[in-house]
Amino acid sequence: MSLLAIISDKVVQAFAKAGYPDAECLVRASDRPELSDFQSNGALPLAKQTHTNPREIATQIADILKQDDFFATVSVDGPGFINMKISDVELGKLAPQLINTDKCGYECSTPQKTVILDYCGPNIGKVLHFGHLRSSNIGDAVRRIMTFAGDKTIGDAHLGDWGRPMGLVLTELKERWPEMPYFKSDYKNDKGYQVPFTLADVTEVYPIASAKAKENPEYMEQAKIFTRELQAGKKGLHDLWKKFVDMTLADTKELMQILNVHLDLWWGESTVNDTTTTLIQDLQDKGFAVMDDGALVIKQEGDTPPAILVNSAGATMYAASDLATLQERMQQFHPDVVLYFTDARQGLHFSQVFASAKKTGIVPENVSLEFQPFGTVNGPDNKPYKTREGGVPTLRSVIEMAIDTARKKIDAGEMGKDLSEQEKIDISKTVGVAALKFADLMNDKTKNYIFDAERMISTEGKTGPYLLYAIVRMKAILEKVGKANMDKALVITDPAERKLILRLLAFPTAVQAAYDTRAPHIIADYLYNVAGDFNLFYHDCPIKMASATERNSRLALTELSLRIATTCADLLGLRIPDKM
Ligand code: ARG
Repeated sequence: MSLLAIISDKVVQAFAKAGYPDAECLVRASDRPELSDFQSNGALPLAKQTHTNPREIATQIADILKQDDFFATVSVDGPGFINMKISDVELGKLAPQLINTDKCGYECSTPQKTVILDYCGPNIGKVLHFGHLRSSNIGDAVRRIMTFAGDKTIGDAHLGDWGRPMGLVLTELKERWPEMPYFKSDYKNDKGYQVPFTLADVTEVYPIASAKAKENPEYMEQAKIFTRELQAGKKGLHDLWKKFVDMTLADTKELMQILNVHLDLWWGESTVNDTTTTLIQDLQDKGFAVMDDGALVIKQEGDTPPAILVNSAGATMYAASDLATLQERMQQFHPDVVLYFTDARQGLHFSQVFASAKKTGIVPENVSLEFQPFGTVNGPDNKPYKTREGGVPTLRSVIEMAIDTARKKIDAGEMGKDLSEQEKIDISKTVGVAALKFADLMNDKTKNYIFDAERMISTEGKTGPYLLYAIVRMKAILEKVGKANMDKALVITDPAERKLILRLLAFPTAVQAAYDTRAPHIIADYLYNVAGDFNLFYHDCPIKMASATERNSRLALTELSLRIATTCADLLGLRIPDKM
């Protein structure tokens, strides 16, 4: 149970006692913490309904609440706000009871849902870049938050592993290594065969092939033939395709592992190759898909352009594979919600796909399809971030940059004193990656943000390292001073303790808000405030030198802080180093 729920209950009961059992009590954390902890604005709408004076109602409720020792003060302010301050004794009793539980006081408010989250979205033949950081990082954080909130979640990478780009890669691989057995007419299998190309080759060939095809119609024709043959299941091409898919997939999985991003499924566009064909036929038979200008489309409402399933050249398009994927997801998992994390530019695509899925009955009306777009990562000029050479940086290079910057800070003595070489390597990795992730997650996901490697790895300000430092400090205190007896109530003797306790008890509210709005930055903000309040407490309240009662209480408060902070770090997918 949460503190907010406890207070809400008390206020509801007070309203009922005063003769208003159905009143909406509108309880929330106070806007003015110096005045009160919680406020109820319920008297205002009630007065309107009953044509009475809101202050009078509020005073009546406040008088009832005042009889409860739980509150230190209850007052009526302004037009009829009821302000409540909890007694220190009650707060001290409640904190360990609520926080020292499985979910730190959080209770699931909605029945469990099955949720599919579509993030990461790597394209075979292309390296992951900055945009994939956002998709993976945000999608995975939302998955963690929804899982924590009690939902059954499934993260799916949805590989771009089908269609024309694959035909282009095959064409260029044949140009370079025509002797490979895959192209022979009597090809059987590639047992024991070592392909001559590397991952670097695979990721290099796609842009080259794509440029060549634009200039050279014969080359383009070959790519089209290969695409068609691959989709029809020609064994040689399929085996070759599988080789470079596996290569890029291994690379992507490694990067996701470094980023601490988890995926449950690695389905791709190719997964639904067969069902896409059947689905298209079915939609055509039922009259949902119609010919328009040589293309097969699903018409949309209003000004929205039609969703193209098959273009005039006969190629199956992005919308078709997304619809077939939805059909497959519905059949296998019966999700209540499907979330998509891509940058805002795919907005039109998803609105077409969602409308088509509902209209055709692929997805029932009560299933929620949500597009969760994110903004761009910008350079200091506030334009999309570019490397010195002018390209979009690869995800790997960005991660390396973060790790290098962390290492430089260690070498410069800004963090991590007295470390062995191995510790330096490990800590640079943990801290660098966490810094990169936090710098991304702390922003409202819909907004663009400016990337600044130096700043994000500073140990001061709103950064990953600042948070990790606070957490490592909490651990170190418990290790050095000792464990607390968690069965005892906390004693509050300093405002910093009170502030920190109230902050920790607000955890369920933060989780609920992050869940409802699919917004990891709410957890990031909350964690930052926990760290700030903890540091203030640590500064103002001696632990080792305090009396036995106070020492126990402060150690317990440290342990509760650690519990909340590590839970939040986990919701954001931040790993915590042992020391810093
Ligand atoms: N591969 C796509 C891209 O890089 C993202 C995939 C998003 N998911 C989806 N189901 N369409 O743009």
